Amino acid sequence: MSIKNVRLEVMQFLEKNIDTFVDSYLIPVEKIWQPTDLLPDSQNEIFFEEVKELRELAKDLPYDFWVVLVGDTITEEALPTYESWLMDVEGVNQTEDKGNGWSKWIRNWTGEENRHGDLLNKYLYLSGRVDMREIEMTTQHLINDGFDIGTGRDPYKNFVYTSFQELATYISHNRVSQLAKKYGDNKLSKMCRLIAGDEMRHHMAYSEFVDQIFKVDPSEMMLAFQYMMKQKIVMPAHFLRESGQKISSAFEQFSDSAQRIGVYTASDYVDILRKLVEKWQIDKIEGLTAEAEKARDYLMRLPDRMQKISERLVIPQEPHIFKWVKPALIK
Ligand SMILES: [Fe+2]
Ligand SMILES: [Fe+2]
Repeated sequence: MSIKNVRLEVMQFLEKNIDTFVDSYLIPVEKIWQPTDLLPDSQNEIFFEEVKELRELAKDLPYDFWVVLVGDTITEEALPTYESWLMDVEGVNQTEDKGNGWSKWIRNWTGEENRHGDLLNKYLYLSGRVDMREIEMTTQHLINDGFDIGTGRDPYKNFVYTSFQELATYISHNRVSQLAKKYGDNKLSKMCRLIAGDEMRHHMAYSEFVDQIFKVDPSEMMLAFQYMMKQKIVMPAHFLRESGQKISSAFEQFSDSAQRIGVYTASDYVDILRKLVEKWQIDKIEGLTAEAEKARDYLMRLPDRMQKISERLVIPQEPHIFKWVKPALIK
């Protein structure tokens, strides 16, 4: 059987458990938090006082913090790109009678994710600290540009990507939450903590999919994991640009801001890789082909190798000034 047909069979096999995955890893609409729960209520008399308080607290947050929060928001707001990408993965079918189980998973995942950009966007708008028009232009560019994360339509590679990516977003939203708390903004801290909680559940789900694939198609899953790590996981933020600039031109400086305030660093990348190697018990997988054995060896050695490289990285001290955040507004 061809590799592609085996992947389709594996996807159909996993699809039988979609309802269990949805029930275990996602939260029903009536029970999950909504952006409005965490923001000033515009139907309430005290709305303006609440907004005033939000803006007062926002005044203490530093420049790099705003850059990171803006970049995170924009990446969340480009959700249409991710949904359409995942809907195109081999084994996912969204046509005919509302599509198959996988399309249900993706719709429900998208429904949860959509609240993140919604909440952060409204917060940024109310904060008065950032240039919303510039942010909106970057978001529109990011959606227009689309992305190529190097997975093709391969479900195995895509699930490695999403396992990695969801854990990376957990880390960065969680660190932003801790920073907000440090600067005395408990409300913003709670928003980011709750978003991080969603990301963690999503990470658990996608890494469970990979775990199950390892049980039925270990060699191909190992090769897909190696493939993704060899080319490095490209974050959606990689494609950020400011208005009037070229694609990807804003990523490095955005990433420098994130590294400077410790929200997402090169050593976090290595830690995520280590966690995945551990979670999938790469050292214990049996029944591998000779090629997949080699891939396993590569993956087992990779974290230490990358750690050494990450220790040598030097991050510029001075922040790049983005159109999204005017320094005059920030102390
Ligand atoms: Fe998200
Ligand atoms: Fe996510």
